[in-house]
Amino acid sequence: MPHRTLMTLAALAGLLAMVACVANPQLPAPTPIPPAAGPPATLDPRLSVSARPIAFGDAGDARAGGDLFQQTCSACHGPEGVGLTAPSLKTSTFVAGASDQEVFDTIAKGRIEKGMPPWSSGYGGLLSDEQILALVAYVRELQE
Ligand code: HEC
Repeated sequence: MPHRTLMTLAALAGLLAMVACVANPQLPAPTPIPPAAGPPATLDPRLSVSARPIAFGDAGDARAGGDLFQQTCSACHGPEGVGLTAPSLKTSTFVAGASDQEVFDTIAKGRIEKGMPPWSSGYGGLLSDEQILALVAYVRELQE
């Protein structure tokens, strides 16, 4: 019966695909790589997405960052960034001493155990790289 044969073939193909998936070894967590360097996530998005390296001249839009800050950060860091339930970003010695990359990574990955949520969509957050770059620029401006 040709119909049966087709069904069996389809079932076999499905089984093979499943076996191939299970046999696929889990990749080691990469250190920051440009998004274009690898294929999209297959198992855990966290394995292929990391805070992207900031290239020289990659300036975020501080104005857009300010709007975003009010929407997403002010509840904890205060509308003026001087701190509420979370520390002040205006007087943060961490921000003052950190590179843009370090500030970017902190916002992207958060510090879950300390109450700072991850914001990068690659870490289950709501924001894109561009939005985080804008926030880095705004946080820098807050310090001035
Ligand atoms: C739910 C509360 C909360 C929200 C919302 C939040 N943060 Fe935080 N954030 C924290 C806490 C708490 C810390 C302190 C973590 C620690 O003690 O290391 C922190 C730390 C930081 C730091 C490091 C400061 C330092 O001195 O070490 C930066 C930068 C930062 N947040 C930026 C942001 C930005 C930008 C946003 C918005 C996208 C944001 N945070 C939203 C709670 C929050």
